[in-house]
Amino acid sequence: MTLPTTDLADRVILLTGVTGDIGQAYLKSFTAAGAQVVAADIPALEDDGQRLAQEANQSGPGRAVFAGCDITDEVAVQRTVETAIKEFGGLHSVVNNAAIYRTLGGKQPLTELSTAEWDLVLRVNVIGTWQVIKAAAPYLAASGDGRIVNISSVVGRNGAPGFAHYVASKAAVEGLTRSAARELGVDGTTVNTVAPGLVDDAATRALNSDDYLATAAGARAIPRAMTPGDLVGAVMWLAGPSSGFVTGQTLIVDGGGVFV
Ligand SMILES: NC(=O)c1ccc[n+]([C@@H]2O[C@H](COP(=O)([O-])OP(=O)(O)OC[C@H]3O[C@@H](n4cnc5c(N)ncnc54)[C@H](O)[C@@H]3O)[C@@H](O)[C@H]2O)c1
Repeated sequence: MTLPTTDLADRVILLTGVTGDIGQAYLKSFTAAGAQVVAADIPALEDDGQRLAQEANQSGPGRAVFAGCDITDEVAVQRTVETAIKEFGGLHSVVNNAAIYRTLGGKQPLTELSTAEWDLVLRVNVIGTWQVIKAAAPYLAASGDGRIVNISSVVGRNGAPGFAHYVASKAAVEGLTRSAARELGVDGTTVNTVAPGLVDDAATRALNSDDYLATAAGARAIPRAMTPGDLVGAVMWLAGPSSGFVTGQTLIVDGGGVFV
């Protein structure tokens, strides 16, 4: 009997949204665990992305290449998926971390949100996520052991005043996960969501006051601030070889703030 391992050494992973604090934590952990990573972000952030890939390569043992890719651009997404095949010979896992979050611009009552703001958030967070899944699915199927990890947020269940479009987009990601799990399971591909709680990172601090963060931290079963590193274990497990019979699920990682 061959038992699964948590080793990422043989895996090629496409990670989107690599320049945010959370994306950086995933990148460092994946390459430290030996994975080959296509690290994607919007072309405007190419300098940051190249630097992060280089840093990941220096610390090894895995390897990373940066790909400039707006996930709403179907051609760029296809090219980015093919980068994995050209550079690393295949694709095993996708971590759909990219989203409009730090650039939301602040809290707004839903009565004041514009259709353009809704369009952008849904286009990136939902349609962009689907587009990456669509392009990656045949290659994940070819690996016979594909993994897709989508990133939602606890606010998709709990709601959060001031971010109706973002909250709706994250709830939609969980529905997309369940449908994709049903469709892609026949190929051995699992599709799951990780739903983070409020992370104390640059993006969150741009949008929320110290008091708000402190209240969120204090309401947890483990009453402390959440860091990007708190998400890494769950994402690595769901992107790795040992989670192959878990699919369609949402794993909340928030120190016990929300129980379902
Ligand atoms: N920080 C939190 O408290 C928190 C909580 C729950 C969920 N999340 C989710 O975790 C993920 C990472 O969050 P973060 O805090 O690092 O936020 P962030 O805004 O700093 O990171 C989002 C990343 O996505 C990239 N991105 C945006 N639009 C893109 C596009 N069209 N194409 C490609 N890349 C694009 C950004 O450049 C950035 O690197 C997001 O999905 C976010 O919704 C964050």
